[in-house]
Amino acid sequence: MANTFETVGVVGLGTMGAGIAEVFARAGIAVVGVETDPGALERGRGHLEGSTGRALSRGRLTEAEQAAILGRVAFTTSLEDLADCDLVVEAVPEVMDFKRALFTDLDRVCKPSAVLATNTSSLSVTAIAATTTRPGRVVGMHFFNPAPVMRLVEVVRTVTTEDGLADEVAGLARRLGKTPVTVADRAGFVVNRLLLPYLNHAAVLLEHGLSTRDDIDTAMRLGAGFPMGPFALLDLIGLDTSHEICEALFQESRERRHAPAPVLRELVTAGLLGRKSGRGFFHGEEPPANPSSEEKPSASTVAVLGGTAGNGTGAAEGAAEAFAARLSAAGFKTAPVEDADLVVAVSRTPVIEQAVRLPHPERLVGLNLVGDQVAEVASTVLTSPGAAQVARGLLRILGRTPVSCRDRAGFVVGALLHPHLNDAVRMYESGYASMEDIDTAMRLGCGYPAGPFEMLDRLGLEAVRDGLRALYAEYRDPSFTPAPLLDRLVTAGVRSIRDLSS
Ligand code: 3HC
Repeated sequence: MANTFETVGVVGLGTMGAGIAEVFARAGIAVVGVETDPGALERGRGHLEGSTGRALSRGRLTEAEQAAILGRVAFTTSLEDLADCDLVVEAVPEVMDFKRALFTDLDRVCKPSAVLATNTSSLSVTAIAATTTRPGRVVGMHFFNPAPVMRLVEVVRTVTTEDGLADEVAGLARRLGKTPVTVADRAGFVVNRLLLPYLNHAAVLLEHGLSTRDDIDTAMRLGAGFPMGPFALLDLIGLDTSHEICEALFQESRERRHAPAPVLRELVTAGLLGRKSGRGFFHGEEPPANPSSEEKPSASTVAVLGGTAGNGTGAAEGAAEAFAARLSAAGFKTAPVEDADLVVAVSRTPVIEQAVRLPHPERLVGLNLVGDQVAEVASTVLTSPGAAQVARGLLRILGRTPVSCRDRAGFVVGALLHPHLNDAVRMYESGYASMEDIDTAMRLGCGYPAGPFEMLDRLGLEAVRDGLRALYAEYRDPSFTPAPLLDRLVTAGVRSIRDLSS
């Protein structure tokens, strides 16, 4: 008979565990919340009270509803209290030895029919299941932070999971108001396997001095439409967890892209773990909603150039003309390139070759308009700080948020987004997950405005393929080579990658 999951245990009431307990309690399910000692138990109760209190203050819950939710959670420090649970979800720190010891205990304490689930981000569910006498009743049930808000649950079945159990757990996830995506047991599953390499890459680019923390975050929020920038998200996830996930991915793949950025290790070693410790990439302050607007343009004359030879397409020339027209309409005077105080090269690729051909290369900046809101302003090694500052001020007047960066392939958004989308194509090509599941997972697990395949179609397969080729040519990292499928689709003139799945 199918399990009805009347009572559920949650072991570990940190941020994730408390959030998971709240999700069950909100769905009317009785919860037994377990922590190791009374202090941790009180902190767990505090998380639940804080989160439901926030909903109360926003008018999303009544006092009676909040009381009912909290009333469904029994708090205990004794694992024995899990004896009658139909399901136990483990959310303790990502240390395999802890998890294995815990699952051995759960196996002993819980009734034989109980399902044991792990919320692990990256450890092997199969290895955890193997410590029990019931590997067929063990699954991954992976929630996303903040658990009460993010609508995805990854259900992970191993080679030993009983037939039908993953479907039962997926049904439970639906009862919780979540959307399940069922996957096999590979490091990082779908979301972390795609998300963490992108976040890690942002940390690597920060270390390379490509741009600043705030500008990279702004570029990905306003330029790519992600709900949070990579550094704010790393702080939310926790830098220790992020480091561990990258390490697990690297152990499996040996790809440089997965090797944790040194800055992650340094921050973790220093105890700066992100929101949970009060400081990580951010120092406890909220990430700026809108970056500073200190720059005042003082350029009297501006010249606008189109793209470089390699990028000198009609589209690039058209973008330059349109930008020049907007400048004139906003009252800026244009001038021949020899005389202008500021030279703006509208380009998707580095502009140093154009700069060295000018009489005043220090006056040239690269400009890439991303979406409707962002303008990437690239400084070459010859650009004067004054020219870059003038360019930023001018873009603000035109209603764009400027993002400063070095003159490198992909600037910021392309450098981060194109490899991220390429990873999604590789994942699909490997047969691990369908395009629909990958798109659903990234939209509902990370709040993306569109899934990676929807983004690929929107940006154009050829543009992404070319962006990857440029990145590979610059950095020679093999993980930037376009996925063979992407290359073939462009060669075949296919416009929508999602046509393959219909
Ligand atoms: N707990 C409970 N509820 C919360 C919350 C929290 N920590 N943070 C926000 N919320 C709720 C708010 O109450 C609000 O609900 P309401 O509309 O009913 O009032 C809603 O979420 C939106 O909150 P805000 O308006 O304050 O904030 P935003 O609109 O900026 O959204 C966000 C916040 C939902 C966190 C959004 O920025 C987002 O989607 N970020 C991406 C998060 C993400 O990618 N998570 C996955 C990380 S990977 C992971 O967890 C896997 C693990 O293994 C590492």
